[in-house]
Formats: sequence, C-alpha cells, structure tokens
Amino acid sequence: MKRRQLLRHAIALPAALPGLASSRALAAIQGGPRVAFGIAAQTRQLLTDPGFRDAVVRECDILTPELEMKWGFVEENQGSANLAPADQMSNFARRFGKRMHGHALIWHKSTPDWAASQMMTNPDWRIIDAFIQRIVPRYAGVVESWDVVNEPFADNGRPDGLRVSPFLTAFGPDYIRRAFERARSLAPTAKLYLNDYGFLYDDSESEARRTAALRLLEALKKHSVPVDGLGIQGHVDLERTGTFRQETFARFLKSVADMGCAIRISEFDVREHETAIPVEQRDALVADATAAVLDVAADCPALVSVTCWGLSDRYSWLPLPSETAGLNRGLPLDSDLRQKPMYRALMKALRR
Ligand code: G3I
Repeated sequence: MKRRQLLRHAIALPAALPGLASSRALAAIQGGPRVAFGIAAQTRQLLTDPGFRDAVVRECDILTPELEMKWGFVEENQGSANLAPADQMSNFARRFGKRMHGHALIWHKSTPDWAASQMMTNPDWRIIDAFIQRIVPRYAGVVESWDVVNEPFADNGRPDGLRVSPFLTAFGPDYIRRAFERARSLAPTAKLYLNDYGFLYDDSESEARRTAALRLLEALKKHSVPVDGLGIQGHVDLERTGTFRQETFARFLKSVADMGCAIRISEFDVREHETAIPVEQRDALVADATAAVLDVAADCPALVSVTCWGLSDRYSWLPLPSETAGLNRGLPLDSDLRQKPMYRALMKALRR
C-alpha cells in the first residue's frame, strides 16, 4: 500500500490526556520505571472507534496486532497478501509514537491450511521462509520485537514437551532454531521471543511446561541460537488461581533471567467464571489476581514489558459461560472505557 493511501486512513491526533503512557514518560524523565505497557488490538477497532483509539493512544507504549500479522490472516490463500490491515496499524504506531511487537511468525493455529498440508507432504523450508521474508523486513522500522515461535509446548507425550504441530512433524525440533536464525538474519536489531502460555500455576501441568521451556531455552542458548527472551502469555483463569503460588512463579522467572533471557508478560488478561456476584466483587477478584501475578513479575529485573490481550472489555476475546452474563471483565478498562480496579493493580505493579 502506498504512503498516500495509508495516510488516507490516518487519524487525528487526540488531545494529550493523562494516562499510563504519559505518566510513564514523565517517570522515565525522572529515572522511573523500566517496564513498558502494551496492548493487543485489531486495526479495525483503531480505525472505527475514536473513543477506543484515544484510550489506546493515552495508555499504551507498545502495540501488538491481535490478528493482522498472523500467517493465516496475511496469506489465507496461497499467493494472497492481505497486508493492508498490518500496514495501517504500523502507520498508526508510527504516527502516535508507539512501539510495536510482531505476533507471530510460527504458530500452528495461524498456519494457513494450504501451508500446513504442503509442509506435511513436502517438507520444504522455503514455504515458511517465504512468509518470514515477506513480513519481517516490511515492518523493520517499527516492529522492535517478534514472537518468532508461539506456543511450541503441549502435553503430547514427548519427553521434550514439544507440541506435535505441522512444523515439528515436517522439520523436527530444529524448526525452532531455523525460525530464530532466519528472523535474526532479516531483523538484526529486533528482540526475538519464544512465547507460550501455561507457566503460572503450581500444578503438574504448569510444572511440566516450565521444565520444557527452561530446557529448550538452555539448549537454544547453548547452541547460540538468537533467542532474546521468553514471552509468558499470562492468561489468568480465576478458577485456577487457588493453585498460583508467588514463590513458584518467582523461581521460574529467576531461572529464565539467569539464562540471560528478557521476559515479557505478553498476553495478560483474567478469565472469569462467576458472574452471579456483585460487579464490585468481580472486579476485586480480577484486580487481586492481577496484582498476585504482576507484582511478582515486576520484581524480576528481566521483565521488560507487560502487554494486556486487549485494553477494554468492549473488545475482549474472553467469553463468559452464559450469553446473558454480559462481558468478561478481565481487562483494565470496562466497556465504557472507564478504569477498573484491575487498571490500578496493573499501574501499581508497573511502578514497583
Ligand atoms: O473477523 C472475522 C469475522 O468477519 C467473521 O465473521 C468471524 C467468523 O468466525 O470471524 C472473525 O474473525 C475471527 C477473529 O478472531 C476476529 O475476532 C477469527 O475467526 C478468530 O479465529 C480470531 O481469533 C483470534 C485467535 O487468536 C486466532 O487468531 C482471537 O481474536 C485472538 O484473540 C487470539 O489470540 C491468541 C494469540 O494469538 C495467541 N495466544 C492465545 C490468544 C487467545 O486465543
């Protein structure tokens, strides 16, 4: 898309408003917080909803495209190139001085069907390489970090804890090294992340995923694979917070940091289940769960940013058990863009 076309979608600069982004900018001048705040959003939300757009401009430092840089979105059919929405978001980021995090180069759930089936019948790395090459250099000036491999772990009965995906089946575990090395060759200064969920709880499932992640990071580092850090998605489930222990999580963060890896909390949100209680009580539970996780994360010197998977409940991807229950309230702003206790818990953690 040409610059003139992009500018057609450009958006008027909202008046300066007090928010997380500006308060951190001020704090930075005063030698303040090192942890940036990000959100995931969709281009159409930014382009069609001025109130939401202003809130994003006001609150966040780093933008992650929720859909627009995924392979299945960009190249649903072989040879198609749906890049306009990602171009529009990167244009928005440039215009408003936001940093961008690219999400995600390799993810089994966003692999187009045609690519997955080609990989399985004819494991040719050029299929993957063409996508990485198409997308990484295009956003070189604005995307400062990438999820290179997303969600590589699963309980599929393998001793290494790796997910049996089309990538693993076609190329073996070496697909991870190849993806990082290719991303590095195309984006020499970007920070490159492995990103996954399921590291939070003090149970055997999370323990197995933590162990698998530490072993993989250790092996990648040992072989000088250019991985800069670990993205811990941080989708919190209120049904499981009883098994969250701060000591266990802190120990995991320290092990990651000790390997020289940076840490992002990359997709933070809180999933509710109980909606038949007063809204104040729901919000307090969400805020408590936020503080429990983010206070520990903020105490880790390797933490560089916290990204919420959405800013406002208006666009939450999280469902509630019943259609009549309204919206899940697990994001910092409510559906009218008002700050909730979760917002304050988040801000407090970022200021630690
Ligand atoms: O926009 C179309 C709409 O036009 C169509 O009518 C509708 C019918 O299904 O689909 C809409 O697209 C959906 C899109 O979300 C927009 O809401 C896609 O089907 C749906 O697959 C897509 O889901 C996204 C999912 O990743 C898969 O890409 C979620 O929004 C997004 O929040 C989710 O994000 C993932 C991270 O990438 C990785 N970690 C987990 C996280 C949550 O699942």
